[in-house]
Amino acid sequence: MKYLIKTYGCQMNVHESEKLAGILENMGYKVCEDEKDADLILFNTCAIRESAEQKIFAHIGELKKLKAQKKDMIIAICGCMSQQTGYPENILKKFPFVDIIFGTHNISELEDFILKRKSLKKKVVDIKENEDISNRDLMPKKRTSGINAWVNIMYGCNNFCTYCIVPYVRGREVSRPINDIKKEVENVVKEGYKQVTLLGQNVNSYGNDVGDENVNFANLLKTLDEIEGDFRLTFMTSHPKDISKEVIDIIAGSKHILHYLHLPVQSGSDKVLKAMNRRYTAENYFEKIEYAKSKIPDIEFSSDIIVGFPGETEEDFNDTMELVKKVQYEQLFMFIYSKRKGTVAEKMGNQVDLATKKDRLKRLIALQNEIGSKVAEKYIGKTVDVLVSDVHPKKQGYLIGTTFTNKNVNFAGDRSLIGKTVKVKIQSSKLTVLYGIMEEN
Ligand code: SAH
Ligand code: SF4
Ligand code: F3S
Repeated sequence: MKYLIKTYGCQMNVHESEKLAGILENMGYKVCEDEKDADLILFNTCAIRESAEQKIFAHIGELKKLKAQKKDMIIAICGCMSQQTGYPENILKKFPFVDIIFGTHNISELEDFILKRKSLKKKVVDIKENEDISNRDLMPKKRTSGINAWVNIMYGCNNFCTYCIVPYVRGREVSRPINDIKKEVENVVKEGYKQVTLLGQNVNSYGNDVGDENVNFANLLKTLDEIEGDFRLTFMTSHPKDISKEVIDIIAGSKHILHYLHLPVQSGSDKVLKAMNRRYTAENYFEKIEYAKSKIPDIEFSSDIIVGFPGETEEDFNDTMELVKKVQYEQLFMFIYSKRKGTVAEKMGNQVDLATKKDRLKRLIALQNEIGSKVAEKYIGKTVDVLVSDVHPKKQGYLIGTTFTNKNVNFAGDRSLIGKTVKVKIQSSKLTVLYGIMEEN
């Protein structure tokens, strides 16, 4: 029996697919690469933007023919798209050949769903609104991200940024017990993973749901940094309103935590930030950036930005451009605002037209290309410690890796170095990527 999982969306989904794969492998399924060989195809979906949904719908549609030839093949859909109100019904209407649909709260029940589908010969549609998170943490995991191990520290989001679907499809924040997280990190370090990435929609509010002031993100980082072993530690995603000076101080004094912070700003205009319900101003945000730079001089930043949020004027957009110039991000993830059903912003009257959105995105990309290139150029001539993550996907004889500031590096070397940290002298750069030569280690 063979399976194939198609994963869309964020790292949270990537890791949940590793857990779903764990269940399937325990059932005796083996992974395959070609849809034609699969007895089960599972779509782990995303709903963050309309474009994500369209892509997923197109991919599901492509399976119609194959399913007609292979009647016993099971097609299952889970994740954020299925969790939205009305979607399971819509999916079945559009794609009557789909066998199983479940949501974000009951992924630990995959085996049951498959067995039910097989024995009852009936479609299985099961969406829950809540769950006991310990079920998800007990799931077996088939880690597929090379030398990196993902570790959930919390689930859900309480922020309700007015554009965002995540709080509706992932539920409220629930933190994992600190000792469980510690044990999992100790285990993956023992197993030889060289990087641990902590996952949460808003890692800085870790512990807020527990009601004990000692259970917070700063203490969690401190605890994990004390674990012995050769590993790097990083996390995503931070919310600017919640990241504390204490967290930055801990990164500055830590042994394992990367000098890199993904701190999504979304907009540089206070008016837009307010309408987005982000609960900080551009000035508050920049103060945090400055504080981090003062404590960790080589730190690099990346960010997410939405252009064309309802009511965004040319002046608001220019505020975003100005903030981007001030911060000097290593990398930006830039998105055109997309209306999401059921969110507050969906009903805002002052939607920006598509041509304006596209034009703003183009200008922002051009600016960031310039800035990103400049940030990368500062590394030329320097020797940096590079953790080798894999062979280069296209260039034979080359390796890829990352610096302690999370910059991507390409250089010539042998695959036996994967998982090792080597010294590389940087010779050139192109946009966000550094190119160098390995030094004698
Ligand atoms: N929890 C994380 C990630 C959220 S989703 C955080 O708070 O940063 C990743 C990014 O998608 C967001 O940071 C935002 O920039 C973008 N995004 C979310 N909803 C969107 C929408 N409706 N339209 C366009 N981009 C959106
Ligand atoms: Fe969405 Fe905001 Fe929560 Fe991030 S913090 S997941 S952008 S609601
Ligand atoms: Fe998408 Fe869900 Fe992640 S909507 S971005 S997969 S939390």
